[in-house]
Amino acid sequence: MCLFLLILTEFYAKLNNLSHKAIILGIETSCDDTSVAIIENQRLLFNIISSQEVHKKYGGVVPELASRAHQLNIIPVLSVVLKQAQVELSKINAIAFTNGPGLLGSLMVGASFAKGLSVALDVPLIEVNHLHGHILSHFVDDGTRKQEFPDFPHLCLLISGGHTQIVQVNSPYEMSVIGSTIDDAAGEAFDKAAKLFGFGYPGGPIIDRYAQQGNAWRFHFPKPAVADLNFSFSGLKTSLLYFLKDELKKDTYFIEKHIYDLCASYQRVIVDILLEKTIKAIKKTNIRCLTLSGGVSANSEIRKQFQKLEYEGIRVFLPPLKFTTDNAAMIAIAGYYKYINNEFSPLNSIPFAKFKI
Ligand code: KG4
Ligand code: ZN
Repeated sequence: MCLFLLILTEFYAKLNNLSHKAIILGIETSCDDTSVAIIENQRLLFNIISSQEVHKKYGGVVPELASRAHQLNIIPVLSVVLKQAQVELSKINAIAFTNGPGLLGSLMVGASFAKGLSVALDVPLIEVNHLHGHILSHFVDDGTRKQEFPDFPHLCLLISGGHTQIVQVNSPYEMSVIGSTIDDAAGEAFDKAAKLFGFGYPGGPIIDRYAQQGNAWRFHFPKPAVADLNFSFSGLKTSLLYFLKDELKKDTYFIEKHIYDLCASYQRVIVDILLEKTIKAIKKTNIRCLTLSGGVSANSEIRKQFQKLEYEGIRVFLPPLKFTTDNAAMIAIAGYYKYINNEFSPLNSIPFAKFKI
């Protein structure tokens, strides 16, 4: 009898959450972008990303500076979002925040702020895995969608600065990693090469831009042999390093003279590796719906080559550029799915730094 009542109460709670409009505030502070968004069910009301310029001169993100910048940015960013979304704080139904993986100090700022808001507004707190956010970013309706939402199950190629995974997404609540990098992430492969070329951080977008004017077949770098659906990028970066060292001995201006072709040739190998493993995953799982997520999915060549899989009868979903890199809209949508499933978090939930999905 007791069990029956419990099930009935849960059922009505879910029905209630589904039938009314859920206004979710999302907070993302896992790395160097302070972002806040508000969604109403799946519809995005407003998303703002404040990128931290302070790291540029260091050639990478400095964790302590990132946390401090989040502290400075978070209140002004929230104020702008509330104003632009035309939502009063009292109308918010839940606070979703990134609980990891990421930089611990940065995560702590977002988590503490979310907890404080949840207590002050007396609304539920929802912790979100940053990677679930990237994966579910395809379910945000920003008013510009030309496609339906992806099917379940689908495969997600998650490619960012810290992660490279193929994830089988059975539902918003059930996902499993079927392939993963054994060393560097795809984003690191771009950023580390960019550093060798003398570019600033993050180097991925710069390589992308230069590659558009280069010959991708001019130079050849070896593709790693990695088993199953796993990836490896550290050998590629090392082969570039030794290649450049040799060439620079002969000509100190080698990089400057060949920068377009170097970028295009190096990028081609990354694209090939990603494509090869994704096609293998599609064949292995027979799941013919694919999404790309994460910062590296902004890469123009990756987008072009993956789009071609449509000719093979695969449904391909490329995220809008604004949802490729870290943003709070993706945290809000992942929070929305938890909200309608009554999955709330306690105030003592602790941010985590290391990868888990
Ligand atoms: O998802 P993200 O914003 O942060 C992480 O969660 O890591 O991804 C950042 C990564 C960086 O490595 C950056 O170089 C890469 O995404 N990236 C790109 C492009 N835009 C961003 N890589 C290649 N081509 C791009 N256009
Ligand atoms: Zn990310």
